Amino acid sequence: MEKKIISNLFQDGGAIVTQKINSKIQDLSYSKVVSLFEKTGLILFKKFNIKPEKLTDITDRFTETYAVDAIRRKVRFNKKPIRNVDEGVKEVLLHSEASFAPAWPELIWFYCNVPPQNGGATILCDGVKLWNVLSVETKNFFLQNPMRFELEIPIGEKKKNKGKRPWLLNSVGAGNGYIDWDTGIFHVVLLKFAVHEGRISGNLCFANDILPGLDTEPQLIKRSMADGKEIPKNILSEIETKANKLTYEHKWEKGDLLMIDNKRFMHGRRAFKKGDPRDIVILQTAKASFGYGSTTRSKIN
Ligand SMILES: [Fe+2]
Repeated sequence: MEKKIISNLFQDGGAIVTQKINSKIQDLSYSKVVSLFEKTGLILFKKFNIKPEKLTDITDRFTETYAVDAIRRKVRFNKKPIRNVDEGVKEVLLHSEASFAPAWPELIWFYCNVPPQNGGATILCDGVKLWNVLSVETKNFFLQNPMRFELEIPIGEKKKNKGKRPWLLNSVGAGNGYIDWDTGIFHVVLLKFAVHEGRISGNLCFANDILPGLDTEPQLIKRSMADGKEIPKNILSEIETKANKLTYEHKWEKGDLLMIDNKRFMHGRRAFKKGDPRDIVILQTAKASFGYGSTTRSKIN
């Protein structure tokens, strides 16, 4: 396995893995990829000649279950787990994919079918490094106070005159759930911390959905701290400034595949022009085929 680091903006550098002569991505050692991934949180597979219709052959190896992606995203290459990224050409600020939702994917994958011609870079920020540079006051605030997200999730089905029915979501932090069958929408409130443990013991990751505007995520109706108050302005601006300084721009080449620890890294994208051929697809692994921290823990002695 040929590897080098992506950027010193990340705590452990991230990793670019490239092909040895005539090797295929499927020939890479599973355990080597897993331990590199758990350590760095981000792998870019480059120059492997990956065909988009074969993507799931690669991602299946590292996946126990895929997340049920938002219904609005179109299926690609006739493979259910492969979806278009969200439409539009505007900038998307840093976030952890669906971190406000009960089905928060452990890993996400981005594959470049057609690179953008101008702009459209994917931005990445390591939540471990970001947490480490936050002030003691801000750390205290997020360690003690969970956030509150109000969600409206279309379930893809309506039943006339059935009205509203309570629906228990068996997920820590979830409550007040009900389905409105007339509109086909599941309403739920979720409490969740913006910071959480990483795959490496002692690491905390600041990876969440605080920065993007609510208009970029149709399922997210309201966002506040658990007590209903807004995040204080000075804290928000500290996060913005420090995250900006730690943001890396990935400029896509055809066939690039990014494997991202979605509980550690935040991602987003730079704007691009309407009509640009940019074609990036996403796969979301709800649960990986390897345990959280399965390769990073050591024994006493
Ligand atoms: Fe995203």
